[in-house]
Amino acid sequence: MNSDKNPFIIAGYISPAYFCDRTEENKLLLRELSNGNNLALISTRRMGKTSLIQHCFHNDEIIESYYTFFVDIYASRSLRDFIFMLSKSIVETLKPYGIKIFQQFWNHVKSLHAGISFDIVGVPSFHLGLGDIQRPEATLDEIFKYLSIADKPCIIAIDEFQQIASYPEKNVEALLRTYIQQCSNAHFIFAGSQQHVMGNLFLSAARPFYQSVSMMHLQSIALPDYISFAQNLFKVNNRQIDSETIRTIYQRFEGVTWYMQKMLHVLYNMTPNGGDCNEEKIDEALQTIIDSFRYTYSETLFRLPEKQKELLIAIAKEGFAQAVTSGAFVKKYKLSSGSSVQAALKGLLEKDFITKEAGIYKIYDKFLGIWLLDNY
Ligand SMILES: Nc1ncnc2c1ncn2[C@@H]1O[C@H](COP(=O)(O)OP(=O)(O)OP(=O)(O)O)[C@@H](O)[C@H]1O
Ligand SMILES: [Mg+2]
Repeated sequence: MNSDKNPFIIAGYISPAYFCDRTEENKLLLRELSNGNNLALISTRRMGKTSLIQHCFHNDEIIESYYTFFVDIYASRSLRDFIFMLSKSIVETLKPYGIKIFQQFWNHVKSLHAGISFDIVGVPSFHLGLGDIQRPEATLDEIFKYLSIADKPCIIAIDEFQQIASYPEKNVEALLRTYIQQCSNAHFIFAGSQQHVMGNLFLSAARPFYQSVSMMHLQSIALPDYISFAQNLFKVNNRQIDSETIRTIYQRFEGVTWYMQKMLHVLYNMTPNGGDCNEEKIDEALQTIIDSFRYTYSETLFRLPEKQKELLIAIAKEGFAQAVTSGAFVKKYKLSSGSSVQAALKGLLEKDFITKEAGIYKIYDKFLGIWLLDNY
C-alpha cells in the first residue's frame, strides 16, 4: 500500500484492500447470480450499492466465468437513452477481449454498425451518437439476441434503475421484463435508491417486475467491522485511531458508508505519520468538510424556491420529520399552510434534497443538514 495516499476512498472503487467488509452481502450476491437469479439491490443513498457491485465484479470466479457489464442510467430520460448507454457499456467491456469475441456482438447488432468502426488492427471504437439509435426496440432485440448466445454467461448491472419509471414510453418495464425473463444466459442486478420508486417497481403486484427478482436491502456496515477496517488502515500507515472516535462518527452519521469514509478520510489527513487520532479531532474534521461545501450549499439554497427552502430548513431542524403537512408542524416552523408544504415536499423529494422512509423525512445530504443548522 502506498503510504502517501489516503487509504479512505471517497469516490469509486479501487480494490478489496480499501473496501470495508460486505463479506456476507458479497457472498449472497454471488450465490444469487450463480443460481441464475436476478437481483434488486436497494438502499438509502451513499450506502455503497455501486461499490458493492464493483467489488463483486472483482471476484476471481466472476471474472473467469462471466462477462460483466455495468450501466449507470442516472442521466437517462428515455428508452432510447437507455439503449444508447447499454450499447456503449457492452462495446467498451468487450473491446479488451479482442476481435473474435467482439465480432460475435457485432454480428448481432446490425442497427449499431454505423456507430462502431475498426482501426487497422481490428480494435473497435464506439462513436455512436444518440441520433444513431433510430429504433430503440429493434436494437434492444438485437442486444438480447447477442446476450443469449454469448460464449460466456453475462451479468448486467443496471445502476440507478429507478430511472426507468420516469421514461415517457409506457411499455418499458413490460418490454424489459419480457426480454430479461427469456434470456437465460444473462443475469441482472438492478440497483437503485429512491426507495419508494424501487419498491414500487418490484413489490407492486400490478407492475411487470413484480416477484421477478430477489430483493437485497443494503444496510450500514456493522460498527465492529468498521472499527477494525479503519484501525487497520491507520495502523498499516503508521498511525492510530481509537475505537471511540469511530463509534462517535458512526452514530452521528447512522453508519452510512460515504459519510464514514469522508470523515475518516479527513481525520486521516489531519493525523501526522506516527500520530494518534482521537475524538477531539472530530469537530475540526467536520468543519473542514462543511467549509469545503459552503459555496455549493449557499448557491443551492439560493436557487431553491422560497417555500422549498423554508421546508428544507424546517426538516433540518426537526431531524427526523414526521407529519410535515400537519397544523402542528406548519405552526412550529411558521410555514404558510399544509397545502403549500405538500407542494414544496414534492419538489424537494423529486430533486433528492430529502428522503422519505417509513413516513419519516430526512435531509438526504447529512453535511448539508449540519450546514443548515449552523446557518439558519
Ligand atoms: N464497503 C466499503 N468500504 C469502503 N468504502 C466504501 C464501501 N462502500 C462504499 N464505499 C464508499 O462510499 C461511497 C458511496 O458508495 P457508493 O457510491 O457505492 O454508494 P451508492 O449506494 O451507490 O450511492 P448512491 O445511492 O448515491 O448511488 C463511495 O465513495 C465509496 O467509495
Ligand atoms: Mg450508486
